[in-house]
Amino acid sequence: MDHHKTPVFTALGEAAASGVVHFDVPGHKKRMQYGTQDPFWDQMLRYDFNSTKELDLLSSPTGVIREAEALMADAYGADEGFFLVNGSTFGVLAMIMAAVDPGEKILLPRNVHKSVINGVILSGAAPVFVDPEIDYDNGIANGLSAQKVRETIEEHPDIRAVLVINPTYFGAASDLASIVAYCHDHQVIVLVDEAHGAHFPFHPDFPPSGMAVGADLSTASVHKTGGSLTQSSILLLNEGMVTRTRVRTVLNLIQTTSPSYLLMASLDLARRKLVLEGQTIYDELLREIRRVQEQISRIAGLSVLTRDYVDPKRGRTSFDETKIVVNVRGLGMTGFEVYDRLKDEYGIQVELAETYVILALACIGDDRSTLDALVEALSDLSRRFYGEAPTLDVPQKGFFDKPTTVVSPRNAFYSPKKKVRLEEAEGEVCGESIMIYPPGIPLIIPGEKITRDVINHYLFYEEQHCMIINNDEDPHVLLVLGE
Ligand SMILES: Cc1ncc(COP(=O)(O)O)c(C=O)c1O
Repeated sequence: MDHHKTPVFTALGEAAASGVVHFDVPGHKKRMQYGTQDPFWDQMLRYDFNSTKELDLLSSPTGVIREAEALMADAYGADEGFFLVNGSTFGVLAMIMAAVDPGEKILLPRNVHKSVINGVILSGAAPVFVDPEIDYDNGIANGLSAQKVRETIEEHPDIRAVLVINPTYFGAASDLASIVAYCHDHQVIVLVDEAHGAHFPFHPDFPPSGMAVGADLSTASVHKTGGSLTQSSILLLNEGMVTRTRVRTVLNLIQTTSPSYLLMASLDLARRKLVLEGQTIYDELLREIRRVQEQISRIAGLSVLTRDYVDPKRGRTSFDETKIVVNVRGLGMTGFEVYDRLKDEYGIQVELAETYVILALACIGDDRSTLDALVEALSDLSRRFYGEAPTLDVPQKGFFDKPTTVVSPRNAFYSPKKKVRLEEAEGEVCGESIMIYPPGIPLIIPGEKITRDVINHYLFYEEQHCMIINNDEDPHVLLVLGE
């Protein structure tokens, strides 16, 4: 296919230049002035369109969107591609709803993003949770081992689908090829949450993508690592156990009828760049990342994950080196403190922190200068703080234990609920998902029993000034089951 083409972007440019007088929405009519000092805001309106015959319909595409989706599918080696304008959150919901009917079992690692739990609630699927492999030295959860997937399917032969995170937020990729082969031998559908792996098909040193190893569905946040605008994402399908019609039906159940053409055009432009220049860009980026890893590993008090992190038995058959995971324990500080200092004292925003690590993402938009700024800031932090305090040792007992599921997430969601204070919640069955953002992995989900470990973990994150998501304005008020 001709990847120089950008069907949506090109049609949008033509529509913006056409001089048509608009008596349709959006109401700014491409001529309103917001009155800011920044001309960008007024110029942007020229490209903000509703669907027309020339610009095609996202919910039933036959024109430029269809063409652009076919190019996207080709770029990822998929049979079909679907543009999404509500992030991979929407893709995850759609994958689950397309693959499993109410009551059918789905195997999930417990370190899934909240969108997966929401997909379980919406679809009525019965989750079979499996513990991911835990790396206690770095205080992070990794992927699923293929062996655990096999054992769980042997134990629950009626499992309909398996969801794999490829890769985890911290770059660990499971043995997806073996998981797909085993699942397909047993008529089990494989869904891949590739929110952090949209760049995988574009360089051979990245872990294999879901579509490359024959998974049925995957959703990739092109907006996260692939260079498109925030919220634009894609759903990819290898047709077989799940049909195109089924996916389209589910998408039309929950997707907006007013998708943003700015987002969709950016998917077109990012795909063109990734296909035509990705290999060269990532050759250079990986060279820089490896140089920077080498430099960070020599800074006192720090260590960094590299290609050597691979250990298939521990749920990491391959590792995505664009995730720069720096262990900062040796500075005597938590990752949360380093995260704040990098922002407040050095003007560096990293993706997220955990107790022992920070995660800096190196993406298609980075180069030597941005990576050097990170190394300089880390070197300076080490000069200032290394040796001032002993290596950090936080008791993590129970932080990674899977809470017991008492009621299915869907039944818990629809059950009567009452409010209790966090301090008194031990033993109650949780009625909501509570999580730290980022990464948005719930500490507890609807239907799970609240343990002392969960409460302690929550209080620990709060003490570290993390952003906590719960449904009440008071972060210490939780919804639990009961009248
Ligand atoms: C593993 C994982 N899956 C899905 C999502 C949802 O993606 P999006 O933010 O594109 O909606 C995220 C977001 O952080 C994520 O980390």
